[in-house]
Amino acid sequence: MSRKILSKKDAPKTIIDDEKFLNENDFIVSKTDTKGFITYFNKTFIDMCLYSQDELLGANHNLTRHPDMPKIAFKLCWQLIQNRQEFFGFVKNLRKDGGYYWVFAYITASFDTSGNIIGYYSVRRKPSRKAIEAVTPLYKDLVNAERHGGMEASERLLMDFLDKNDTTYEKLVTALQEM
Ligand SMILES: Cc1cc2nc3c(=O)[nH]c(=O)nc-3n(C[C@H](O)[C@H](O)[C@H](O)COP(=O)(O)O)c2cc1C
Repeated sequence: MSRKILSKKDAPKTIIDDEKFLNENDFIVSKTDTKGFITYFNKTFIDMCLYSQDELLGANHNLTRHPDMPKIAFKLCWQLIQNRQEFFGFVKNLRKDGGYYWVFAYITASFDTSGNIIGYYSVRRKPSRKAIEAVTPLYKDLVNAERHGGMEASERLLMDFLDKNDTTYEKLVTALQEM
């Protein structure tokens, strides 16, 4: 029997202002194929996103995409991981009940013995609260820029922000998590 593959189209349409928090020692782990379809996850992921094991397996990872997340963050992520580099970032994720949880995410590629990319995996932990307070207004500006001028506008805004602060994306993220 075929079953429905979930994606962001199936995410809740009603967003609620209800945050859930990761514990200090929790890790959310998941793996995807090369297109971002989920192939593995741990129990902490189920506990945080509230989807069942059956719903998550095979779903696209954009199922947990929160509308407050700027698209430029994921563009940067895919650019890095497809180029065999690592992505670190603060991600606000949407739960099945319309609430959300913030993570400090690490995403990178998995390889076969010949060095071909066979998928991706991610490990996420509790983010620094000060970092979330700092990125929330920045993400708001980036989402706004995207609404009016598309990803070109948010990319420009992000580059200007990094230039003004004399930093790079990687340095900024590392510094924020240490706050
Ligand atoms: C290993 C891995 C983990 C991911 N985890 C998340 C996640 O937790 N939340 C999220 O919104 N996107 C995550 N993504 C990115 C999504 O696949 C997708 O690019 C993003 O949600 C933007 O969706 P869209 O391109 O359909 O707008 C992950 C991607 C990979 C490869």
